Amino acid sequence: MHKYRARAGQHASGAQDVTTLTLEKVSKRFGGVIAAEDVNLRATSGRVTGIIGPNGAGKTTLVNLITGMTTLSSGGIRLDGLDLSRSSADAVGRAGVARTFQNIRLQTDASVLDNVMIGFQRLETSSVIADLLGLPSSRRETARTRNNARSLLEEFGMSRYAQHPAGSLAYGHQRRVEMMRAFAAKPRVLLLDEPVAGMNDVEAEELGALFRDLADSGVAVVVIEHNMRFITSISDYLYVLDRGRIIAEGEPREVLTSSCVIEAYLGN
Ligand SMILES: Nc1ncnc2c1ncn2[C@@H]1O[C@H](COP(=O)(O)OP(=O)(O)OP(=O)(O)O)[C@@H](O)[C@H]1O
Ligand SMILES: [Mg+2]
Repeated sequence: MHKYRARAGQHASGAQDVTTLTLEKVSKRFGGVIAAEDVNLRATSGRVTGIIGPNGAGKTTLVNLITGMTTLSSGGIRLDGLDLSRSSADAVGRAGVARTFQNIRLQTDASVLDNVMIGFQRLETSSVIADLLGLPSSRRETARTRNNARSLLEEFGMSRYAQHPAGSLAYGHQRRVEMMRAFAAKPRVLLLDEPVAGMNDVEAEELGALFRDLADSGVAVVVIEHNMRFITSISDYLYVLDRGRIIAEGEPREVLTSSCVIEAYLGN
C-alpha cells in the first residue's frame, strides 16, 4: 500500500500531516423524514472510523452529505481548514475525498483495467484537448496511468481480471474494482459504504487488512458496516447511528456493549 500514499500533508497548511474531516451539527430532512439530526463526527488520518446503525439509520445519507451529493439542511462539514458544507461533488473530490457506493456503480461493459484507470484521471494533468489530439504528453500520461492501474490490480490480487468486463465479475470482485477506483485518486479521506457486504469472512478479513494499511499510510478511512464483528475488529473509533442521531461513540468494544446500542438493534 506504500505506493499509494495519501496526499495528506500536501495541503496549504504544510506544517502538519494530520487530516481531519469534521461534521458539526449536521442535519438533513427529506420532507418529514429526519435522516440526520445534529450529527457531530470526526474522522482523522491514520485511523479507521467505523459507523454502524440499523437499516435506515442515516449512514448512507451522511456519506452523501460529505461528498456533496446531497445538500445539508443545516450544520457544517470541514476538511481541515476547508469548508465543504456547500461544495459540489466535484469540488469535494478535488479536495481529496473519495467514496464507494453501497450499490456498486461501475462501467459494467468496460474492462476492469479501464474502470480502475478512470479513478486515476483526477490526478492527470494533461488537458482533455491534448488527449483528443493524441499529443505525446497525453499519450505518455495514459501509459503511466495504465501502469499505475496495473500495479493497483496486482496489489488487490485482481491482475487476472484486467481485461474482463467489470459487469461479468462476481459481486465481491466488483466491490474490489470499485475500491481500487476510489484508492486510485489517492484520497485523504476514503468513505466506504458497506464495503464487505456479500463477502465471506476470509474476503472481508483481507479487505479489513487493506483498510488498516491504508489508514497507516495516512488516509482517514471511514467504514460503514452492519457486521459488528468486522467493524469491531477494524475500527479505532466507532459511531452508532439510530434514526439520524449518534446514540453512542467511542472504543468499539465498549460502545457495542452499551445498553442504548443493544436496544437500538433489538428494537428494530
Ligand atoms: N433521497 C431521499 N429522499 C427521501 N428520503 C430519503 C432519501 N435518501 C434517504 N432517505 C431516507 O432517509 C433515511 C436514512 O436513509 P439512509 O439510506 O441514509 O440509511 P442507511 O443507514 O444507509 O440504511 P441502510 O442500512 O439500509 O443502507 C431513510 O428513512 C430513507 O428512506
Ligand atoms: Mg445505506
